[in-house]
Amino acid sequence: MTAPALESFIDQAMARSRGHADPADCVLALAPLMLDLIDHAGTFLAPQHYQSSPAGYNRNLVYEAPDRSLSLYALVWLPGQWTPVHDHGSWGVVGVVEGVLEERGYVRLSPERGADTEIDLARGGTVLLPHGAVTSFVPNPDHIHVTGVPAERPRAVSLHLYGRTMSNFNIYDVAARTRRRIEVAHNES
Ligand SMILES: [Fe+2]
Repeated sequence: MTAPALESFIDQAMARSRGHADPADCVLALAPLMLDLIDHAGTFLAPQHYQSSPAGYNRNLVYEAPDRSLSLYALVWLPGQWTPVHDHGSWGVVGVVEGVLEERGYVRLSPERGADTEIDLARGGTVLLPHGAVTSFVPNPDHIHVTGVPAERPRAVSLHLYGRTMSNFNIYDVAARTRRRIEVAHNES
């Protein structure tokens, strides 16, 4: 059985994402829902959503729409765990449930947005997202970033809502100036 707060969030997120074709409008409409959802995380996050791994940050599925148009994950970041440099090819809305999640941005300098080679990236700023914070992103131009928790900070847990099942994304090799699509695993609820 789905907790009422999660069920309400999913219903509203579905309606609002369908009602906004432009990803920028979509995340504007969804960010306040995520802000509320964080307050109710204790009502629907179960032990399986807090699974972690010493091998790397862990992605625990909370909800996947039957038509795969929406997905929600609880990500668990142990100290020192980071993503590769990546983008999602989708909009996303992130809310922090526990700890401080850090996001380090990259700016694409090369003009060809869709290219997978000859990509020049410059390091951008960093954002520290404490419990209760919400951030979001849209594709095209790609939101390129590294997310994680430095070794000196405690575990972080965050909720990630995407505009598709997030079973693959683009990772970048900054030195080689390339990017490629990789499949990423998650734990089913
Ligand atoms: Fe990301």
